[in-house]
Amino acid sequence: MLPSADDPLGRITDGALAARSGRVVWVGADRDLESQVALDGDLLDAGGACVMPGLVDAHTHPVFAGSRADEFAERVSGLTYQAQQSGERGIARTVRATREADVATLLDLAEARADRFLANGTTTIEAKTGYGLDLDNEAKLLDVLRKVAERSRLRVMPTFLGAHVVPPGVDRQAYLRSLIDEMLPAFKPWAVFCDAWCEATAFTAAETRTLLARAKALGYLLRVHAAQLAPGEGPDIAAELEASSADHLEFATPAQIKALAKAGTVAVLCPGANFTTHGPRPPIDAMRDAGLPMAIASDLNPGTSNSESLPLAMSLACVQWGMTPLEVLTGATRHAARSLNLDGLAGCLQPGSFADCIVLDVENPEAIPYYVGVNRVIQTVAGGAVWEPS
Ligand code: NIG
Ligand code: FE
Repeated sequence: MLPSADDPLGRITDGALAARSGRVVWVGADRDLESQVALDGDLLDAGGACVMPGLVDAHTHPVFAGSRADEFAERVSGLTYQAQQSGERGIARTVRATREADVATLLDLAEARADRFLANGTTTIEAKTGYGLDLDNEAKLLDVLRKVAERSRLRVMPTFLGAHVVPPGVDRQAYLRSLIDEMLPAFKPWAVFCDAWCEATAFTAAETRTLLARAKALGYLLRVHAAQLAPGEGPDIAAELEASSADHLEFATPAQIKALAKAGTVAVLCPGANFTTHGPRPPIDAMRDAGLPMAIASDLNPGTSNSESLPLAMSLACVQWGMTPLEVLTGATRHAARSLNLDGLAGCLQPGSFADCIVLDVENPEAIPYYVGVNRVIQTVAGGAVWEPS
């Protein structure tokens, strides 16, 4: 299943793969399996269905309590997402509900979301905090993420997003000091990535730069919510600091796109959030021209994209933005894995990679986005074992 000039997906007709201890050890033609591999474990017959790597979701906010269904309804009737971010509404409302919930409640909610990811074919997620927004509550969210990773078959790559917004009722400078002096050093053992939202409703360019530079110095890999709702310096900061990903990018300029490509950053695009906030099409053509790798993410969160379905995000990216089925497939596998530092491990099936794959009722993998809002996943295999809902 290695990509080649003939077939960028590297597909094999009548293929087979063997796994041991959760890793792929052999991939080839079914007729060669018995002669080339010592078979001593369970055999899973996909019955001629399409088998491909488990999907990789590079942008999710899966630990939260409460609902903002009424805000969704208001937006449908014309209110903007930005107008909903004042006072005790929007993100602040989810922060309140999440702070009021205990670990057991948040864990139940997050585990149910993990099951929905797996049911929809996702085997690896990047998972952000960002609804605790103080030392104790962000620690609580990281604790929940650690427990979900232990209990679920889903692979979870934790991201500290204390810089989501300044929490209501807190002095801005005091919050920035707490982020830099207390939270960033305290959470380094628990989070691979650090993220910040650079936007008028969240953090200024200067604040984002200072925070992320400090995070980088402490050893975090970086992600940036950049140019989502308006033009801004988020993409420049991501490029300067060689972030692993710059996310959203609806308002990124061609020069910023080039800088991101040069920096080796991956663009993580979030079609679900774009769809419900009525955002513009991201500069896909400039990304193609610059050779910037594009990942597609669900952006599961209670405000802009309440969905664990990457196949739905893939459909939206095709229909709304004119991305090709091949682009969104690569975006939900290889490019997403690259943004998570899991190149060659996730989003692919090759000797040494995680034995994470999905069995699909589709004519070929490019047909996934054609099935709009319908789950065609028959079976999810994570770490070499068939996943069953908990
Ligand atoms: O990715 N951009 C920031 N965060 C989320 C929205 C979070 C929320 O509204 O609760 C996003 O769209
Ligand atoms: Fe987000």
